[in-house]
Amino acid sequence: MDYNEVLERARERLAPHCLVCKECNGIACRGKVPGVGAKGTGNSFIRNYEYLSNVKVEMDTIYEYKGQDTSIELFGHTFKAPIFAAPIGGMRFNYDDRISELDYITAVVTGTVMAGCAAFTGDGADDICFLAPLEPIKSVNGLAVPTLKPWKNDKVFEKIKMAEEVGAMAVAMDIDSAGLIHLAKSGKPVFSKTVEELKEIAAYTKLPFIIKGIMSAKVAEKAALTGAYGIVVSNHGGRVLDNTPATCEVLPEIKQAVGDRVKVFVDGGIRTGADVFKALALGADAVLIGRPYAVAAFGGGAEGVRLYTEKLMYELKETMIMTGCADLGDITFDKVRIIK
Ligand SMILES: Cc1cc2nc3c(=O)[nH]c(=O)nc-3n(C[C@H](O)[C@H](O)[C@H](O)COP(=O)(O)O)c2cc1C
Repeated sequence: MDYNEVLERARERLAPHCLVCKECNGIACRGKVPGVGAKGTGNSFIRNYEYLSNVKVEMDTIYEYKGQDTSIELFGHTFKAPIFAAPIGGMRFNYDDRISELDYITAVVTGTVMAGCAAFTGDGADDICFLAPLEPIKSVNGLAVPTLKPWKNDKVFEKIKMAEEVGAMAVAMDIDSAGLIHLAKSGKPVFSKTVEELKEIAAYTKLPFIIKGIMSAKVAEKAALTGAYGIVVSNHGGRVLDNTPATCEVLPEIKQAVGDRVKVFVDGGIRTGADVFKALALGADAVLIGRPYAVAAFGGGAEGVRLYTEKLMYELKETMIMTGCADLGDITFDKVRIIK
């Protein structure tokens, strides 16, 4: 199987929910939530994609060749590249049950590990969204990050315990799900969190704790006070609020605010290895990628996910060669140019 076959198969399996567009830019699926799109006008997703395409890469091929090392250490593990699959949950809700929660998450968790990377996993109104990933996570010796919804803290602690029991390397919380009304409607309300509540969670577990859904320097400052290991600059792929800025637009000011106090991840509109490069140049330590991983899993299972991850790594290396970068530390702000 090659990656083009993965896309073809995904197109057959996903239509009309996801058209597997040549450019996964949020236009064809605008407003489709439930589904794979973004909320309202779909603007937040579209801006993530468009902003990143206005970040251009500066060429430099006059330098001493030292090869390209894309590896990174995070959560006490070494990964081949700073690339993670983003949490995607709710196969029934978003994909009309075309694949079971377990089959989906097994493909993503095992496929990313096969390529030397790892996945974040999701959560939702249906308990299966959080429970299904636990066995696959155990089977890869914990190399994944369960991501919890912002439930009341007693429920959060119960779920963290389950993640610890299967040996997960870290846990995350998508605090930007606080406004998901459908969770409350189905009797599973979620809430905004205070700095104190987040501190309690970070202190409750020995696992690194990551706060997902930060979109400004001011909020990043608050997150950095909680003892969290990292933050994810994310607008949830545009699914929780219409008309936000692009994630890579706010990334440099967030990195400037938090410095090295927390690891900085980013997601939203990242599609290629060149996009990974751009996100790193703008201040991220590593990236998460959402919808394209769903396409890879639907089109080729774990093998599709492995192929997509390897394609990203290849493209990242290629971009590093063309910009004189020997390792990730060389990917600095001056390696890109933002056009209007
Ligand atoms: C169908 C779907 C389901 C998602 N489910 C979750 C989830 O359960 N938890 C979460 O933190 N984020 C969830 N997300 C958001 C992604 O983790 C990620 O932030 C977003 O998709 C990144 O944008 P991208 O798809 O443009 O790469 C979901 C996204 C989609 C498209």
